[in-house]
Amino acid sequence: MRNRRAALAALAGAASLALTLTACGQNSEGGSEEDKKGAKGATIGIAMPTKSSERWIADGNNVVKDLESKGYKTKLVYGEDDPDQQVSQVENLITQGVKALIIAAIDNKSMNNVLQQAEEAGIPVISYDRLILGTENVDYYASFDNEKVGELQGTYIVEKLGLKDGGEKGPFNIELFAGSNDDNNTRYFFQGAMNVLKPYIDKKQLVVRSKQTELNQVTTLRWDGGTAQKRMDDILTSAYRSDRVDAVLSPYDGISIGILSSLKSDGYGAKNKPLPVVTGQDAEVASVKSIVADEQSMTVYKDTRELAKVASNMVDALLNDKKPEVNDEKTYDNGAKVVPAYLLEPVAVDKENYRETVVDSGYIKESDLK
Ligand code: GAL
Repeated sequence: MRNRRAALAALAGAASLALTLTACGQNSEGGSEEDKKGAKGATIGIAMPTKSSERWIADGNNVVKDLESKGYKTKLVYGEDDPDQQVSQVENLITQGVKALIIAAIDNKSMNNVLQQAEEAGIPVISYDRLILGTENVDYYASFDNEKVGELQGTYIVEKLGLKDGGEKGPFNIELFAGSNDDNNTRYFFQGAMNVLKPYIDKKQLVVRSKQTELNQVTTLRWDGGTAQKRMDDILTSAYRSDRVDAVLSPYDGISIGILSSLKSDGYGAKNKPLPVVTGQDAEVASVKSIVADEQSMTVYKDTRELAKVASNMVDALLNDKKPEVNDEKTYDNGAKVVPAYLLEPVAVDKENYRETVVDSGYIKESDLK
């Protein structure tokens, strides 16, 4: 089998030739125009991490819808947060003859062997939302500006606590939570947030009473809300007997909901004990409702409909011998190569702007928030 990457490199050149030839009813391999349209009937494999979070259900459905509207067939699988299950699902998709793969990995380092099989079968791979690490066999990356997500969360905290205006405000107590350590996005989110928060921690205007400030002390395996709730319980018991927590950096709505449950069982939310500022990400319905109810403070809205479009367009381009559109060719080094990426913009959402962001765009129906 000819090396797929060499084949992709040749695409740009081949594309113009193909155009000339299809104009005469022939494609570059000498087939008819009808054969060329064969790419359209091809089946695309889509591997998503879990159905336990509504965003991934929407991602899967949107990718299917976009690809089908372009004339492709699809096979969509969910790995239920079990990396081994996801690897065997991808293996099956390859055996079933898919022509391209779109993968949101559960464990970013688990894919190396199976993607070698994809390479050998000439199947291009799009890393979806989360970058797959340690293998050359990833062609493109479709995601959001992940560091910016963390910056939006950190900035929200410092603004809400009034620290941004300068002066000697504080000290305020803050606790830090990060995502799953096997998800490459986790360190980008945390780095982005710490870019904003660390100067205040250094000046002691923000104090982490648990003393857990390193990424490896604050991760939450598989982004699990229950795990975060338990960690928050432990922190409240051990570090906050007489003090109050003023802010919690949470990387994801499911984690925020767990943290809020813990806080509420400890009496936060009552009149004399206000809830701290709690961040989030994904604009999930439960969290937007919580924002409207003055519990969770903010979330980061990432329009996954747009992400699905980017990934589907990448596949369509690749299967039609075109170069997918990218806007970042330097940030995402997966350890084996810098993966060309298309990054979308995340948006901070709170009670002030949830209507004009997530509701007016049709991402969430106002009636779902009742
Ligand atoms: C990340 C993703 C976040 C959030 C989280 C938990 O990879 O970028 O938006 O969905 O997973 O599912």
